[in-house]
Amino acid sequence: MITYNEQQKSFLLTGKGYSYAFFINQMNTLQHLHYGAPIFPSDMSHLYKIGSGDTQTPNPENFNRNLSFDYTPSEFGFYARGDYREPSAVIARKDGGQMSCFTYVSHEIFDGAPQLKGMPHARKGDKTLAVTVRDECTPVEITLFYTVSEDSTVLVRNASYKNVGDEPVQLKRAFSFCFDLPGGYEYKRMCLGGAWAFERQPSVVPVSHGVTRLQSIRGNSSHQTNPFIGILKEDCNEDSGECYSVALCYSGSYVLATDWAFNQRLRIHGGVSDFNFSWQLEKGEEFITPQAFLNYSANGLGELSRGYADFMRDYVIVPRFVRAPRPIVVNNWEATYFDFNNEKLFPIIDAAAELGVDTFVLDDGWFGKRDDDKSGLGDWFVNEKKLEGGLKTVINRCKEKGLKFGLWFEPEMISEDSDLYRAHPDYAIKMEGVTPVRSRNQLVLDFTRQEVVDHVYNVISKVLRENDISYVKWDMNRSITEMYTPSLPAERQGEFQHRFILGVFNLAERLTGDFPHIFFEGCAGGGGRFDAGMLYYFAQFWTSDDTDAYERTKIQWGTSFIAPLSTMSCHVSACPNHQTGRITPISSRAAIASLGPTGYELDLSILSEEEKEAVKQQIIDYKQVSELILNGDLYRHRTTLDGGEYFFVTVVSKDKSQAYAVGLRTHGSPCDFDHYVQIKGLDPDKIYHIPELDITASGKSLAGYGVLLRRMPDFGGWTWHINQVK
Ligand code: GLA
Repeated sequence: MITYNEQQKSFLLTGKGYSYAFFINQMNTLQHLHYGAPIFPSDMSHLYKIGSGDTQTPNPENFNRNLSFDYTPSEFGFYARGDYREPSAVIARKDGGQMSCFTYVSHEIFDGAPQLKGMPHARKGDKTLAVTVRDECTPVEITLFYTVSEDSTVLVRNASYKNVGDEPVQLKRAFSFCFDLPGGYEYKRMCLGGAWAFERQPSVVPVSHGVTRLQSIRGNSSHQTNPFIGILKEDCNEDSGECYSVALCYSGSYVLATDWAFNQRLRIHGGVSDFNFSWQLEKGEEFITPQAFLNYSANGLGELSRGYADFMRDYVIVPRFVRAPRPIVVNNWEATYFDFNNEKLFPIIDAAAELGVDTFVLDDGWFGKRDDDKSGLGDWFVNEKKLEGGLKTVINRCKEKGLKFGLWFEPEMISEDSDLYRAHPDYAIKMEGVTPVRSRNQLVLDFTRQEVVDHVYNVISKVLRENDISYVKWDMNRSITEMYTPSLPAERQGEFQHRFILGVFNLAERLTGDFPHIFFEGCAGGGGRFDAGMLYYFAQFWTSDDTDAYERTKIQWGTSFIAPLSTMSCHVSACPNHQTGRITPISSRAAIASLGPTGYELDLSILSEEEKEAVKQQIIDYKQVSELILNGDLYRHRTTLDGGEYFFVTVVSKDKSQAYAVGLRTHGSPCDFDHYVQIKGLDPDKIYHIPELDITASGKSLAGYGVLLRRMPDFGGWTWHINQVK
């Protein structure tokens, strides 16, 4: 619901479990009033009184002598009008002047949600408020969009910048959103940081005075810092306390900044990275920023995450796949790496069919001259030396065995040793006279150029058209460090990073749109681009290259703060694990891999009979819970992060009639006499049965008293199927 109060000139926006309010103050600028617990329209007069009082709003009659904008809780920070905090936008006019003051022009409230052309976005929404402000110092109008939905905890925001004058202007910073919370000292900041094979490890630190930035300047949202920020009240934990978060619906370089200022307010704002950024806006042109998904919970981080999970499923992820049963795949990467031929692949395919797997995914190495990572990227035609008879032979084998076929691509990359590079060296990102930086021996294609994107579209779509392919794994294995393209003039080089990701979105939109029957999985050296932007195109993402069950408990735990389980691709791999060397029981690996779209990443043909039987049973068991994995609510109980001894989560059906609990114990202990785990999320008044434990008890007792955790070997895992009996 969105209402406008004429008298106060105030806006009140209300979604599921939150309200958001601001008003047009005496200076005609937008002033933030409230974000948090729901408030009644009648409370607005109280907030308005506080907001419009002397301490917060400059006095138009006596601007110089009274308090300046430095004290104003701003709805979109502007620069050089006495607000010394960092602004949300920096705009340079033709003479180089960079001052701004955003004053109210008009607003409209309409049904539905804005559809951003060429960029991922929330596909729907109940109501949208669009408020336009005019910069008094440059010829720019900014429209701030706010979309609310009654059944969602997420408020969607973005901004569009329009040059309404005759002269060009240059955006030096063009953030998507801003809000100023009171009581900066009360907050902690949460981030999901990490590295390759170590993605999205949550950390929570007190907010400090001054500006702190979470950002990526790598051209992708990155393994290192996910485009997510949590703002937690001091007493917030998993099940109680207030918290906020912002997740950007964006996959390129970004920034999310906090500024705890002298006035004790905490400003949170961000969007496209402003590092080396500029965007030239000619007369009449518009710059549309990515959407930011603001989320609020009055009841801890668990509820915050469930709010995001529902929102991602209902509003973002491609609707035709979001609730569709996911293929159970076997992927040959860890089984063969680059070293394969039909003789090696066929036994894997045959074993997969026998064990109940339904899709075979052929990973890196099937194309061009690609026997290691030094060559071939860009040559998207089959290597017949390796695969005699071409893709068709492998696909036919799959078909004979009743399997579907999936294929790996890395569309944004190029090897110098490739036909593509020999024909079009200029397609690679590099700067004349400077040796390009290779990472994994490869260069990045210049996706700021439409002809490069078109070329990749043509060659990949040819493969997809000519072959019976039902699944594509879209990988991206390096970041960009040289943000330069000769196709843009000097004063526009700052546009590189955003233009690059627009090229990626363009290709993703065309390929997923033109091949709607193909299921796309995203990947970026594992989970290096696991963000809402990618989830708009790809219903699931390869969570991490680290397939070790214990490491995955941490990675999947962290990922669950931003996305539902249905998006986290999880495979059972061989032991000793290829990334960590750790040995874990196959049952534990399967338990952890069942917390997402599952599959296998090993040579199924060389498993022992006992292991084969185990895999067969795992697939049967997985199918029983796959509906819960797609649509259930996640409750996080215990984490292995920070040295925790075990991992334990429960997935509960929306009607609370069914649940699936999964755990993993890091190491056994001789003194496990009285170790109880509580099961959250069940209906306290319902009676449940857990066959694995032969327990029948009420939801209340399972949440309160809990159940006894039996003694277990190192890295022992468990799965409990919890069913309502009364
Ligand atoms: C990345 C992916 C892996 C695999 C390899 C192939 O690392 O994350 O799953 O596809 O590339 O080169």
